Amino acid sequence: MSTIEQQFQEILQNREPKNLYDPMLYIMMQPGKRLRPQLVHIASEMFDGDPDQTRHVAAAFEMLHNFTLIHDDIMDKAEVRRGKPTVYKKWDSNIAILSGDALAVIAMRQLLNLKCDPKITLDILDIFSQTAVEVCEGQQFDLDFETLENVPIDQYLNMIRLKTSVMFAGCLKAGARFAEADEESLQALYDLGIHLGIAFQLADDLLDVYADEEVFGKAVGGDIKDNKKTYVYLKALEMADESQKKQLRALFSITPEDEKAKFEQVKAIFDAVNVKEATEKAIAQYTDMCVADINRIHTEESKKASVIALVQKLQNRSK
Ligand code: IPE
Ligand code: IPE
Ligand code: MG
Ligand code: MG
Ligand code: MG
Repeated sequence: MSTIEQQFQEILQNREPKNLYDPMLYIMMQPGKRLRPQLVHIASEMFDGDPDQTRHVAAAFEMLHNFTLIHDDIMDKAEVRRGKPTVYKKWDSNIAILSGDALAVIAMRQLLNLKCDPKITLDILDIFSQTAVEVCEGQQFDLDFETLENVPIDQYLNMIRLKTSVMFAGCLKAGARFAEADEESLQALYDLGIHLGIAFQLADDLLDVYADEEVFGKAVGGDIKDNKKTYVYLKALEMADESQKKQLRALFSITPEDEKAKFEQVKAIFDAVNVKEATEKAIAQYTDMCVADINRIHTEESKKASVIALVQKLQNRSK
């Protein structure tokens, strides 16, 4: 077992009531991609932070991320995540709400383990709590947009900056702050997180339509079912002719019994306007911005290899 899973077990096992802690252990022990802790460690390592201490920051952010997933799946009525039933499906919504809430607070408490200047701990707490609030802001915009007919792409981008990017940005900034990086590098890493998070969410939106369900671990078509105004939808709308626009708008205002038929109709229009290619182009543009951000970090080039590799890897992901 790798260290981070051991850490989660130590934090969560043998605690009562079981219906509060079992759902936390259930989600934390699943094989997620663990991107957020990777980002914390990568940023800390760039400035020679102690990995043994950094792991508390990494665990805090991964637990916060999983809290958002527990609640997100209730909000999105999603039944499967990482190939397994979602927490509210396996238990129920009340249990999922409460164990999610407690997980977020336990996450924050991991920062109390840091043995460093209390000023650093406070700064990391500031980054962490700001992240948590902004994710909720993004999640509410996401829900509001479900029933809003016209969502401008810049408002969509702001929504995903909040729901997804600030977590990436917070991880990078917190890791680097722990390692006492300079202000300009902290800002460059924060910006990197924002751009990487946007590219990541655009890819998530695309995978929601085009992924192999087995590999993706989530149900394909979930966003279409919920009338989510994703990049894929908004871009397709922009590229569609008048008749396709009318059809798309109509399809994204209904919740029919036959989800599959709706999915097929939507996907046919997405394919016809080739929105996949347009979205991949946007992902590549945000990835280029990441490279520019990395160039602004004040550390030796050799120490940037891990972050460059991660950015490249995420550009062509299938899960
Ligand atoms: C899912 O995040 C939520 C989004 C921001 C799209 P991940 O795709 O990183 O989820 P796991 O942790 O690897 O399962
Ligand atoms: C993810 O958005 C945002 C957060 C979990 C905060 P999605 O709703 O698209 O994430 P998935 O696809 O369910 O993982
Ligand atoms: Mg969601
Ligand atoms: Mg979701
Ligand atoms: Mg998604």
